[in-house]
Amino acid sequence: MAIGTATPSNCVLQSTYPDYYFRVTKSEHMEKLREKFKRICDKSMIKKRFMYLTEEILKEKPNLCAYKAPSLNDRQDIAVVEVPKLGEQAATQAIMQWGQPKSKITHLVFSTSCGVDMPAADYQLTKLLGLHPSVKRFVMYQHGCYAGGSVLRLAKDLAENNKGARVLVVCSELSSVLSFHGPDETNLDSLVGRALFADGAAAIIVGSDPLLGVEKPLFEIVSVSQTIVPESSGALDGHLREAGLMFHISDKIPRLVSKNIENILVEVFKPFNIMDWNSIFWVVHPGGPAILDKVEEKLALEPDKLRASRRVLREYGNMWGASVLFILNEMRQSSATYGLRTTGEGLEWGVLLGIGPGLTIETVVLRGVSI
Ligand SMILES: CC(C)(COP(=O)(O)OP(=O)(O)OC[C@H]1O[C@@H](n2cnc3c(N)ncnc32)[C@H](O)[C@@H]1OP(=O)(O)O)[C@@H](O)C(=O)NCCC(=O)NCCS
Repeated sequence: MAIGTATPSNCVLQSTYPDYYFRVTKSEHMEKLREKFKRICDKSMIKKRFMYLTEEILKEKPNLCAYKAPSLNDRQDIAVVEVPKLGEQAATQAIMQWGQPKSKITHLVFSTSCGVDMPAADYQLTKLLGLHPSVKRFVMYQHGCYAGGSVLRLAKDLAENNKGARVLVVCSELSSVLSFHGPDETNLDSLVGRALFADGAAAIIVGSDPLLGVEKPLFEIVSVSQTIVPESSGALDGHLREAGLMFHISDKIPRLVSKNIENILVEVFKPFNIMDWNSIFWVVHPGGPAILDKVEEKLALEPDKLRASRRVLREYGNMWGASVLFILNEMRQSSATYGLRTTGEGLEWGVLLGIGPGLTIETVVLRGVSI
C-alpha cells in the first residue's frame, strides 16, 4: 500500500572506488589485486553506491580496514544503532505515503543481516517510530539477499490471517559496516562483495481488504514460495567472526541460478496457466550483472524486461534484502510516469525473485494494480 526507501548520505562512485578502496585500506602495494578489483568494478554495471562507512570512520577505526583484524565490537556498535535508524527513514516515508495514523499498524516485520542484539532492531524501530507498544513484532535475521522475498512471504500470511492487520515491513542493510575488509590474496571472492555490496533500507506496508478511497494498493501478493537450489551447498555463505562477516561467493552462483530458475517458475506459475515469461513483469534481486544476464538468457527475456532491476543495480548496487523492494518502488514510479495501465509496467502478472545464501530462492507471484 506504500513503499519508502532510504540510503546513507555517503555516495561512492564506482569508477573511482578501486583507487579509494586500496588507499583507505593502505593496500596500495597490492598492484595485481588492485587491477583485478578494478576489472570486477568495471564489469559490475554499477554507477554509484551508498555506504555508511566514510573515510573518517575508517581512519578512526583502522581495524575495519585490515584483513581479518578483530573488529566485531566496532562493527556491532555502529550496526546496533544505525540499522534501525536507516529503517526508520524508509518506514517514515512509507507511512507518510500510506496517509494513515501509525496507531493502525498492527504488526512489524524487520529484517537485517547486519548486527545482532537484544532487544533486537524490531524493538528499537518500534521505539524510534513511536509505534503502539503492543504492535506484534517479528525479526528475520541473516536471510541476506533473499530477505526481500522472505519478508513479503511472512507479511502476506499475517495480513491474510489477522482481520484488519496492517503490517509494516522493513529491510535495513548496512552491509558495509559488517562486511568491509581490506583486500587479501587468499580471499578473492571477498573482492566481489566489496565491488557489489551497498547500504540501503526499504519499507512497505502490507494489508488485505484495503479501505476503498482511503488506501491505495500498489501490488497484490498472489502467492509465495521458497526453495533451496539443488547442489548449491556452500555456493554463498557468510560467517560472523571477530573480524566481522566473512563471505564466500562462488563463481558458480550465476550458473546455478540459470540451471534451476525455469523449473521454479514453471511450478509457481502452473496454477495460473502462465508459461510465457515475456508476458509478465520482473523484479529480480540484482546480486550482480551476471545473475541478471543469466536469468535473461535462460528465459529468453526481451531486453527491457529487467530494466527496473538493472536500474537499481546501476544506481544503488546490491543492497541485499532491500534491493527487490527498491525495484518495486522504481517499477511503480516509472509505470506511473509513462502513463501505463498498471503498476507492473502495464502488465497484470509479475514475479519477484529473492536470491541469497544457501542458495535459497524466494519466489513471489505478484499482480500489478490499475493506476
Ligand atoms: C563479479 C562479476 C560482476 C564479474 O563480471 P563478469 O562479467 O563475470 O566478468 P569476468 O568473468 O571477467 O570476471 C571478472 C573477474 O572477476 C573474477 N570473479 C568473478 N566472480 C568471482 C567470484 N565469485 N569469486 C572470485 N572471483 C570472481 C573473475 O575470475 C575475473 O578475474 P580476472 O579478471 O582476474 O580474470 C559477475 O560475475 C557477477 O555479477 N557475479 C555474480 C555475483 C554474485 O554471485 N552475487 C551474489 C550475491 S547475491
